[in-house]
Amino acid sequence: MLIKRPSDIRPSQITPEAVFHNRRQVLAAAGFAGAGLLAASLAQADDIPARYRRLPGVKRSTLSVRDAPNTFEDITHYNNFYEFGLDKGDPAEYSDDFRPKPWTVTIDGEAEVKGQFSLEDLLKPHPLEERVYRFRCVEAWSMVIPWVGFPLADLVKRLRPTSRAKYVAFETVVRPKEMPGQRSRTLDWPYVEGLTIAEATHPLALLAVGVYGVELPNQNGAPLRLVTPWKYGFKSIKSIVRISFTEKQPRTTWSAAAPDEYGFYANVNPKVDHPRWSQATERRIGSAFFSPKQPTLPFNGYAEQVASLYTGLDLARNF
Ligand code: MTE
Repeated sequence: MLIKRPSDIRPSQITPEAVFHNRRQVLAAAGFAGAGLLAASLAQADDIPARYRRLPGVKRSTLSVRDAPNTFEDITHYNNFYEFGLDKGDPAEYSDDFRPKPWTVTIDGEAEVKGQFSLEDLLKPHPLEERVYRFRCVEAWSMVIPWVGFPLADLVKRLRPTSRAKYVAFETVVRPKEMPGQRSRTLDWPYVEGLTIAEATHPLALLAVGVYGVELPNQNGAPLRLVTPWKYGFKSIKSIVRISFTEKQPRTTWSAAAPDEYGFYANVNPKVDHPRWSQATERRIGSAFFSPKQPTLPFNGYAEQVASLYTGLDLARNF
């Protein structure tokens, strides 16, 4: 996102290199999203390797979109996770040594409930649901992903933020021995992100622990990541080890690294171009190579649900 100068960016890094002509995507490209089928059951994929543990008791959610999901292969092999390298295939290739178990999350700052929690204890009260969400990267590509997780709002409520808490900050684990990308200073580790309390308690904000009904693969942010579908993908911080409630707007990795290019809000907005490329359209990963780019929707198609969070805010300045 930052490291490469405009002239270094090959179109193939923004548009998909491989096109997968499987049945689902050919149908999707032809306009048959199979929505009825998807609405009736959890998203199915026939390309999930057996080593991934299936998550029990997952219910489907009415907040899912009806678009046909990308394949498991697309979702797990076209990734941004700079802790494992800069290329889209690096996270899948170099994350085998990463150990997401056991996992501890620290809760601190302006909340009544604080401390260190095992992931199991943190998750225990929360029923898991599948949310099929559109996912739009700031690099102008997109996917549709059947996440498994639970509303961030439910966790925030349990932690009882004080009246001084205005933001929620998130931090990714630092483990250079397991994350080869962290051995060089491509970014200022740890990767950090943040939301306003209103955003964090919006029903669409999800803490994800799985995809396609199985535990999150390492390259997708195992064992716990954020998903905010109306925002550019860089907000969806992976492998979270700390959640802090703060009075002041927290520092976020990309807005600190390149403040002219990436903001704190990062709401998907086709009217505000990135300084180096247009945000008006997007390439759906896995779509047939001859299919045109599709228009990018305000708030990634979630405007009806989230636009009111930003009433009175100049979204061109607060990008
Ligand atoms: N989280 C961490 N810790 N490190 C990263 O490099 N990349 C972000 C986001 N979360 C990133 C991260 C970006 S730019 C995107 S687009 C999404 O993760 C990609 O998620 P995916 O690989 O599961 O599609």
